[in-house]
Amino acid sequence: MCGIVGYVGKKVAQDVLVGGLRRLEYRGYDSAGIATLDDNNDAHLARAVGKISSLSAVLEKEPQTGHLGIGHTRWATHGGVTETNAHPHHVGNVYLVHNGIIENYKELKAELQKTYTFASDTDTEVLAALIDSNYTKDSSLKDAVAKALKRVRGTYGIAVFSPKEPGTIVVARLGSPLIIGLGKDETLIASDASALLGYTREAIYLNDGELAVCTKDGAEVYSLELKHLNSKKETIEGDLAQIQKGGYDHFLLKEIMEQATTLHNTLYGRIDPKAGKMHLGGPNLTEKEMRDIHHVVIVGCGTAYYAGLLASYYMEQLVPDLTTEVVIASEYRYRSFHLPKDSVALIVSQSGETADTLACLREIKKRGVKTLGIVNVVGSTIAREVDGGTYVHAGPEISVASTKAFTAQVVAMLLFAGMLAEYHGGDPKLVAEFTRELAILPEEIEKTLNANRETMEKLAKKYAEYDHALYLGRDTAFPIALEGALKLKEISYIHSEGYASGELKHGPIALIDNRFFEVFTILDNWLFDKACGGLHEVRARGGKTIVLTNSKADIEADDIVRIESKIELLAPILLNTLQQLFAYYVAVDRGNDVDQPRNLAKSVTVE
Ligand code: F6R
Repeated sequence: MCGIVGYVGKKVAQDVLVGGLRRLEYRGYDSAGIATLDDNNDAHLARAVGKISSLSAVLEKEPQTGHLGIGHTRWATHGGVTETNAHPHHVGNVYLVHNGIIENYKELKAELQKTYTFASDTDTEVLAALIDSNYTKDSSLKDAVAKALKRVRGTYGIAVFSPKEPGTIVVARLGSPLIIGLGKDETLIASDASALLGYTREAIYLNDGELAVCTKDGAEVYSLELKHLNSKKETIEGDLAQIQKGGYDHFLLKEIMEQATTLHNTLYGRIDPKAGKMHLGGPNLTEKEMRDIHHVVIVGCGTAYYAGLLASYYMEQLVPDLTTEVVIASEYRYRSFHLPKDSVALIVSQSGETADTLACLREIKKRGVKTLGIVNVVGSTIAREVDGGTYVHAGPEISVASTKAFTAQVVAMLLFAGMLAEYHGGDPKLVAEFTRELAILPEEIEKTLNANRETMEKLAKKYAEYDHALYLGRDTAFPIALEGALKLKEISYIHSEGYASGELKHGPIALIDNRFFEVFTILDNWLFDKACGGLHEVRARGGKTIVLTNSKADIEADDIVRIESKIELLAPILLNTLQQLFAYYVAVDRGNDVDQPRNLAKSVTVE
């Protein structure tokens, strides 16, 4: 979603800001802009609809030379995609970029309209006017921002400067991340640590309700009551190579193909195949606390939700006395839910910033239930607010569609289940079998992807022109069907739905016609015959079928992709990597913007 960058130092701010915005492109946006202050204290503003390249074209004609500035990529919420609605917004003496939503902007606007004329339809321009109206002769920009924010309902991450106070950028956050990078004679601001990589490793992660005054010499942090706070300096993880394409045409393909490596990082130090045991340090639970857990609720959105669904099947197999519940965060947050005291909540999020997931985390905490994060982005809001948990260590996921994070999330939750099993009379042989499979999963993923890449590319060409797809599976292949359909629809724009194959005759089978194709994931397990039942039903009605399977048995379908692997229990994870390749190649074939699909954002920080 929207991205913020800021710079004050000795370099030409325009270059740092545009470079930073490019790093944030992956989050999804529809317009971009920067504002800088030159050495004569004159401000300059440039905004453009579309990609950063459009903004660069504007800046090429009128370069900005100042050493302080703010920049933004906007994903429209209030008002259409126009240059006037793009950030930064300029009102009076204030230049502002903003992530989040000001919920009471209409009432504030009605009040401010007596003094100000508004050019845009945005809530952000209203906030800029509110700050300006508090920016009197006797107050500093810091005072004005603090005063204004006290009147605001909603969420924000903001960066503000004024020609009246050269050399200073004021930032603040509530529910939308802001990181201050501390360099030598320069200070950077970003809503996402990836924009800071290569500049500095030292950073202050602003907390909700905090404001900071940034100069080239560093940052001072305050509460909104302007009480000075001691800020903690933290280290930014990751390196530049992780946020580059590394020779691949798209980040998505890179992220699919690097799953063996990233999974290795997820598993590092957490399994002991010889002893047949799994271990996860992060949950930080005592033996008694582990024993007391009898109910696990897993919360997530989109792909994270499907990862939770697959993990719940594994949890039930491993932990005999455990009840699991997997919930969609946007629904759960408003339900009158009750959780037994012997519950633990797994909060699953790649970005660690998803607004609905974060809201659930807070609701669950209010009910006194322990929360554990299954999070990828280090230092993200969810990671900071959970009681414990684990990073999945998938590395930066740049492409909007989530791939390697799904694999890592399932595995991280499986590790938790393996640990729980030990305290709940789980079958040690089963834990050992899962551990053995986990140990070889990275190399099996590598083999599977390399052996089938061309096949999936050819298959994608064959099916790229269809209008609709149904993805079907049962048991642990059911969450995979849901995830396969999501991946295809979000990057190829082919209408696709995932179903439990046992549900076919309860409705979806009516859809089968020549505009549809059906993807069956069929596992070589005790439900094999039943899984094939759905396939026969579709074929009998003339459906075009693709089967992804690890079975050697005879199967009739239009196209069959068989994997050969020593993996059985975790075969759904392997087969899912093929679905990822399939969706990728279909999207490429259709000429889509694979890494930044239309209308989507990487980190959904608004409801
Ligand atoms: C799908 C996708 C989304 C995310 C969802 C949750 O490819 O990327 O469905 O999985 O928005 O995001 P996180 O995991 O960041 O909370």
